[in-house]
This record gives sequence, C-alpha cells and structure tokens, in this order.
Amino acid sequence: MSDVNVFIKQKLFSSVIPMPHHNAFSAMSYKKIESIIDSTSDLYRNNYKAFRTVLTGYYERLNETVNHSNTKAIEKHKQRGKLLARERVNLLIDEGTPFFELSTMAAIDQYKNNFPSAGIITGIGLINKKPAVIVANDATVKGGTYIRETIKKHIRAQEIAAQNHLPCVYLVDSGGIFLPQQAEVFPDRFDFGRIFFNQARLSASGIPQISVVMGSCTAGGAYIPAMSDETIIVRNQGTIFIGGPPLVKAATGEEVTAEELGGGEVHTQISGVADYLAENDADALQICRNIFETLNSKEIEQLSDNIREPVYDGEELYGLIPDDLKKNINPYELIARIADASAFHEFKKEYGKTLVTGFIKLYGKEVGVIANNGFLNSESSLKGAHFIELCEFRSIPLLFLQNITGFIVGKTHEHKGIARDGAKLIHAVSNARVPKITLVFGGSFGAGNYAMSGRAFEPNFLLMWPNSKISVMGGSQAQQVLEAIGARESGLIEQFEKESMLYFSTSRLWDDGIIDPKDTRKVLGLLFSVTEPKPDKENKFGIFRM
Ligand code: COA
Repeated sequence: MSDVNVFIKQKLFSSVIPMPHHNAFSAMSYKKIESIIDSTSDLYRNNYKAFRTVLTGYYERLNETVNHSNTKAIEKHKQRGKLLARERVNLLIDEGTPFFELSTMAAIDQYKNNFPSAGIITGIGLINKKPAVIVANDATVKGGTYIRETIKKHIRAQEIAAQNHLPCVYLVDSGGIFLPQQAEVFPDRFDFGRIFFNQARLSASGIPQISVVMGSCTAGGAYIPAMSDETIIVRNQGTIFIGGPPLVKAATGEEVTAEELGGGEVHTQISGVADYLAENDADALQICRNIFETLNSKEIEQLSDNIREPVYDGEELYGLIPDDLKKNINPYELIARIADASAFHEFKKEYGKTLVTGFIKLYGKEVGVIANNGFLNSESSLKGAHFIELCEFRSIPLLFLQNITGFIVGKTHEHKGIARDGAKLIHAVSNARVPKITLVFGGSFGAGNYAMSGRAFEPNFLLMWPNSKISVMGGSQAQQVLEAIGARESGLIEQFEKESMLYFSTSRLWDDGIIDPKDTRKVLGLLFSVTEPKPDKENKFGIFRM
C-alpha cells in the first residue's frame, strides 16, 4: 500500500494500546461466537474483491490528502527551518505510540481541493503517557488560515477534550480567518470566536491549554496563545499580534517588522504574552513535553497480560461487506472480530432479533454492544432501551454498531406504537451518560441514525467504514415520496446519491473519520481508553411513554 498508509497504519497503530480499568477476562459468562463465514464461497470472494477496490480508492484519496501537492508552500516552509504539521505532531507524542488522527479528509471535494485536511491536523496522542488532544495548523495550506471546516475541526477537537477531559496542545502557525470566507466563519455561535470561548471554559474546568507558537498568530488567532495556560514561542519564527505590520502601517503610519512587533523575544521579555522562548521547532516541542510532566492529568495504564485477541482475522470482514447496502451484514461476525477472544455475553438473544445486544471485553474492559441486524421494530427498540439502561446503571460504556435503513413502517407497526417504542430508545440514547462510541459499518438512514447514537446524540466518537453512507433516505425513496405528494423534482436521485457518499459526510465533519475495517478493534480500544467514566451522579432518564 501507499506511503501514507504505512505512516498512518504503522506509526499510528503499531504500539501496544494501553487501557485503563482492565479486568482479567473471564471466559465463563462469555461464549465464543462461532463464525459462519465461508471464505471459499463465490459471494464471499466477490464481496472481498469489490471491497478491496473501495479500500484502494480510499487509501489513494487519503494519500493525496496527506501528501498534498502544495510543493511551493512546502519548500518555503522547510527553507524557514520549520517542520511540517504532521512531523511536529510526531515529535511531540511519545515515541512509538499511536496518534489517532481525526477527520483527515475534512473539506475533501470542496474548495477545488485547495484545503487538504481543512488546513489543520487534529487528533489524540500520548505526551509523557498522558493522552492529549493535539491541534496543529498546516501553514502550507493557505497560510494555515481558517475556513468553515477548519473551525469545525478545531471546535470538534475541543469538544472531544471537554467530553473526555483531555489536555489540549495547539501548535499554532496560522494567518487567522481565510478572509474571503469571513461572513461564513466570523460571527456566528460556532464560528471562530467559539475557539476562544472554549479555551476559557476548558481552562476553567481544569483542562490544561498549552500553545506552541511556531509561526504566525495574527488578529483573532493571537488569542489562542494569549488564552492558554502556558505558551511557548519559537525565536525568529513565532509571532503574535492583534494587527500585523501592514495593518499597523495603515492605521498609525508606524513602520515596524513582524519580529519587533510581536516576535519571541518581545513576548517572553517585554509583553509576557508567552512564557518560554524556544530555539526551534524541536526545542519548542520538547518544552511542551516538559510541561506535561507537571500536569496533573490522567495517565494511560498498561494493558494487562491476560488480554486475548479475537480468534478470527479482521480482514475477513472485507468479504462480508455487500456492494448493496440493502443487504444485511451479520453483526455477530463483526463483534467476533472486535471482542477479546471473540467472546460475547448476549442479552435477550431470542427477543427483538433485529437488534443484537450484549457485553464484550475490549482489551479487558467491559463494553456494552448494540448492533443493528435489520430494521428497528417495536421489540428491538424496547430491547435497545432496556440494554442502555442496564449499561447506564452499571456504568458500562456503549458501542453502537450502526447499519440501519430506519424504523419499520406500515399500518401494523404504527398501530403497535413504533413511534412510541422508538422514542424510548431515543430517550435512552440521549440521556445515557456513559461513554458512547458509534461505528457506522453500512447504511445510516432516517431516524435509525438518531436511535443508534448519530452525531446529534453526542457520542464521544463517530467513525465510518469506507463502504458507509448517511442520508435521510435513499434517493429513489425520496423521489417516490415527492411524486406521491405531487411534487416533481428532477435530479433528486443523483443529488441523494452524491450527498449520501462517504466523502461528502467526512468532508463536512459529520463523522470523526474513516477507518479500515481490519483496524476496528484497535481503534475502538484506543478511543475507549481515553474516555472518561460516567459522571458520579444519579441516573436520570426522561418520561418513557408506556
Ligand atoms: N486570508 C486569505 N488568504 C490568506 C490569508 C488570509 N488571512 N493569509 C494568507 N493567505 C493566503 C495567501 O494569499 C497565499 O495564498 P496562495 O498560496 O494562493 O498565494 C497563502 O495563504 C500563503 O500566504 P503567504 O503570505 O504567501 O505565506 P507566508 O507563509 O509568507 O505568510 C502569513 C503567511 C499568514 C503570515 C501571511 O500570509 C499573512 O500575514 N496573512 C495575513 C494574516 C492576517 O492579517 N489575518 C487576519 C485575519 S483574522
């Protein structure tokens, strides 16, 4: 596979994934799932081949994004003695440990692809064994300026920090707002200003905010280091000012160089806006690592020796993924490739079979799994709500495995109260405060997206497989609905097709990123290891209509 693949998969996932709260695996209450995959069947082989093509396409796009071709900007950047954004991240985190990059393909297929990764790298890595959220501007993408998706990505990283109580490091190298887009990124509630509001709130809740100024930090951007708990600045490279030299000249006539106005020496010796003066990028990142030694934030624990890997190969999942999302994907096969020892303690097995619920150990940690196995009907909705309550009362985190065409429709089901039973599930999902991670492994359509902890339900993380799609319904159904009410809309099928595509979703940050199915267990293990236990308050649900 490509270089980027090697970078992402080896560098990011090569090491042992540490997990807190590990328990020894008890095989007694868990039964090994017996896989029924026939890897010699034509169906399996055809699916496998078709999915490999999808996967190759995904890795090609990932490669293009990470190794973007802004060669002139990259050369200029390197000539200034600066490291690239991902190189900075690599140097900051503990050597040989994983970095989980979020939403790498943000802004893809928008803005003529001039904003790879939306010009910002965000993710989770370990700094002195302490998990942290890292936000790094990519100055080789339009001077590291912020378009709508850059802001969304930055704010999403801060949300993750808040929800999982993780310190934040900002590797700042940015010209601030991308001025041609100012109306879309400046004034609204979740626009640029939200970044600083979040910093103040995060700091107040005891979540450390550390800035490393490695380039420009202009106008509003100046508040990123200024609002941080501690700030490092690189000599002859980092600058912080509310108005740059051209603006100062225009406003006051004063002629001043960037360094004189707001360089490293000015801010560490005169203004006090920064606290540490670093000699270069590597020195600055080392100072940041030293600061982490003084932080009182949680450390990651080492894995227990008792962890048993699944008995089935994760790559076999490729052969399960059909080319048509209307065909079901057997969730037991997926659970068998996520769970320790492929073992599952199933709950309410014979009831509401279109939803599979039960407990697994994931790197020794108890996790409640809710997986779609067809339409949601009354029974499966009730079963899901019941299971969520169990996990909430027992403080067990939840994993939603989402592949859902929606709730079942029709007179019988409406009379039976599918809306009321579905509402119970949505109530339970909304009010459960245990950590939740959602993986879309096929379709995510209609209210099924809500009931299975879609983005609006604030799961700690939401990930997609490369075959996944999200939309309110399929294009042809939408066309039929409109025709049935007498409205004619041309091109609706094509529009739905385009808008439900994986890249459309990930470009707009409806998810936190795309993962290769074979990495599912490791990624989930890593992400659950950084979630916080449920807040120590009484369990509280709303009114369930009976
Ligand atoms: N809005 C829109 N585009 C911007 C921009 C901004 N704020 N800042 C930089 N750019 C663009 C440049 O036009 C250039 O585009 P191109 O590659 O299509 O030619 C690209 O980003 C790189 O800028 P450049 O000046 O060539 O790079 P640099 O590394 O020498 O300097 C900055 C980068 C950010 C220091 C410098 O561009 C700058 O000072 N920008 C203005 C910052 C500002 O005043 N922001 C206020 C917004 S709140």
